Amino acid sequence: MKKLLIIKLGGSVITYKDSPTPKARLDTIKRLAKEIAQIYQQNKYQLILVHGAGSFGHPIAKKYNLHQGMKTKQQELAFSLMDQQMIELNSIIIQALLKNNLPAISLPPRSFVQQSAGKFAGFDSQIIKNCLDQNQIPVLFGDGVLDDKWGCSIISGDTIVSYLAQKLHTHQVIFLSDVDGIYTSDPKTDQTAKLIPEISNKNFNKVIKGLTPTKRHDVTGEMQGKIISLQRGLKDVPVAIVNGLKAKTLQQVLMQASTGTKLLLN
Ligand code: ADP
Ligand code: IPE
Repeated sequence: MKKLLIIKLGGSVITYKDSPTPKARLDTIKRLAKEIAQIYQQNKYQLILVHGAGSFGHPIAKKYNLHQGMKTKQQELAFSLMDQQMIELNSIIIQALLKNNLPAISLPPRSFVQQSAGKFAGFDSQIIKNCLDQNQIPVLFGDGVLDDKWGCSIISGDTIVSYLAQKLHTHQVIFLSDVDGIYTSDPKTDQTAKLIPEISNKNFNKVIKGLTPTKRHDVTGEMQGKIISLQRGLKDVPVAIVNGLKAKTLQQVLMQASTGTKLLLN
């Protein structure tokens, strides 16, 4: 029996997240595709990949307030443009995976997820199970989705990861971000920040206080949003939050090396 791994490629890893216009980290994407292929070739794991939006989604969502709905003609067009940009980023990733002979299948969440006043209420995951049964690698992403109260809203890839990890029998979740893990405060602005090797129910409330917003155009709550969606959705599934900008981190996590932050909530 193969074990299910869910990997989130953070927007900060696959794009230049500070850029006001879409800009992909092509070399990093190519390297990660190679590393993912090495894992796949071991024949031990089934994989689900979820990627973030970075500069392909957040700046436009923030500029037109698409995380808070769609009322004007301008917002309708911006929603469509954001959709196009996400498809472009997804296509860059799928191409990199295909170059490494990985049978990746794109599943845009907007085509099967609907929210209500920005709130996520799940989706039918059968299509994802079917893909896995056919040895395909489903690739989902944080996306703009239709919303029955607001017109549209945004779903984070982090929410999708938590939901799928809880619904499917998941061996491990790995979040690749642009920092080494979760720190006592933002390591980019506080030199005294210390890496937290383990998060459990015991230290959760203390940890959450150190997760502060950055100056980026982010509409899904950044590191704090990530951890809160894990707390809401995920129990008894081991999670690792590690640095995807560093080579071979994925392999290190799977070899149980002490890297990044490990989180287990129950
Ligand atoms: P991703 O795009 O990889 O999903 P986010 O942009 O949502 O990740 O969050 C990563 C950012 O969170 C880091 O670049 C870091 O600056 C910021 N951050 C804020 N507080 C913390 C903290 N306590 N520990 C780690 N990162 C933090
Ligand atoms: C955000 O998804 C989706 C859009 C803004 C369209 P994520 O929340 O998963 O993206 P990152 O990882 O923070 O960039």
